[in-house]
Amino acid sequence: MSEKLRVGVIGCGSMAQHHIAGYLNCGRFEVSALADLDESAMEAMDARNGIKSTHYTDARRMLDTERLDVVSVCTWHADHAPWTVAAAARRPKAILCEKPMADTLGHADAMLVACQRNGVKLVIGHQRRFLPAYTMARDLIARGAIGQVNLMQCFAGQGLPNYSSHQTDMFRYLLGDVDCRWVMGNVERKSDRLERTTRIEDSAIAVFEFEGGARALILSDVGAPLYQGANIIGSQGMINLTTEEVLLLNADTGGRWQSTRPDGKFFKVEAEGERFEWLEGGAAQADELADWVTGAAQTHRGRAENGYKALEMIHGIYESARCHERVIMPMQTRINPLDLMVESGHLAPQRPGAYDIRAFLLRGEKLWGHEQPAETKP
Ligand SMILES: NC(=O)c1ccc[n+]([C@@H]2O[C@H](COP(=O)([O-])OP(=O)(O)OC[C@H]3O[C@@H](n4cnc5c(N)ncnc54)[C@H](O)[C@@H]3O)[C@@H](O)[C@H]2O)c1
Repeated sequence: MSEKLRVGVIGCGSMAQHHIAGYLNCGRFEVSALADLDESAMEAMDARNGIKSTHYTDARRMLDTERLDVVSVCTWHADHAPWTVAAAARRPKAILCEKPMADTLGHADAMLVACQRNGVKLVIGHQRRFLPAYTMARDLIARGAIGQVNLMQCFAGQGLPNYSSHQTDMFRYLLGDVDCRWVMGNVERKSDRLERTTRIEDSAIAVFEFEGGARALILSDVGAPLYQGANIIGSQGMINLTTEEVLLLNADTGGRWQSTRPDGKFFKVEAEGERFEWLEGGAAQADELADWVTGAAQTHRGRAENGYKALEMIHGIYESARCHERVIMPMQTRINPLDLMVESGHLAPQRPGAYDIRAFLLRGEKLWGHEQPAETKP
């Protein structure tokens, strides 16, 4: 068995657990070091995963001290670019950064540049590309099982960057990674709503068109049911996709819905239930990363160019709302158009008072979400 790849993780919260489990479950990595501002977060990771890692409360010291092959960036969105750039400067073989890729397209660009300049492979954690149901749906579409894809529709919530960046990535994956041609959408934002310190809207709707003519629709925070997956309507059939199941209806199924729940390379759907998507997605994403790093694969499904396009489609919705127009890709605006609308007064909150829907993740006294009040700062 060849030597395992040495991993260091920056940010040891809920998503880091899935990265670590993925690395360990595919058997090709050793989690050597953890970095977090909070010692107890690192202790919890070790205990939960049965590992003994070296702990750092200063992530730069970890990057300077450890000989890491792979760095996981699992901090909140606005910290993805700074930590990816910092890690790239130390030249690991690869970085696996969480989604959404960054808080602005400009910062996402910087991540691409830093990794290219330093010869580092960069992956964004859209792990659902590795779910067998997603891949089965993609293969069915590619071989024409539902004819020409006319519309993919999905329901979302909790802000576009968090939830729907997975869906914009899914649209492209299902269509064989073709490019999005244009985006048109609108947002409502009456309250000062944040998600992991990133501004989000109260609700949104968006339409996309892709090379080849397929279209997609996202209904976000408009009261519809919330799940990862899509209804896919083709000229000769339909697919209803969730993270575990593919329902297919076409002439071959006799016009009835036919269900398949495909197992993964590492885990079985029925054995794991709701845990399946996290376990299989994490392990298969890590496994393909090991293949890419060792040269066994030429590329990775989650390579950063795809993560960039998923983010661009989300910011395209904000830009469409800002400019009241259909936004043609590639997008030119490099800052977050939602921030621009709010800060310019174009979309001033009518119900003032910032609140963060993920404030419950914060430890200790950091419970205000966006910023600690000045009087409590050290
Ligand atoms: N791929 C997915 O399906 C998925 C699911 C959940 C979250 N995420 C993404 O993962 C990211 C992290 O979310 P989370 O839910 O794990 O958050 P979290 O709050 O649970 O964890 C973040 C951790 O980062 C630590 N941290 C903050 N600043 C740091 C610094 N300077 N140095 C070191 N550590 C620092 C915090 O102490 C915390 O432990 C987000 O960008 C989120 O979008 C992705």
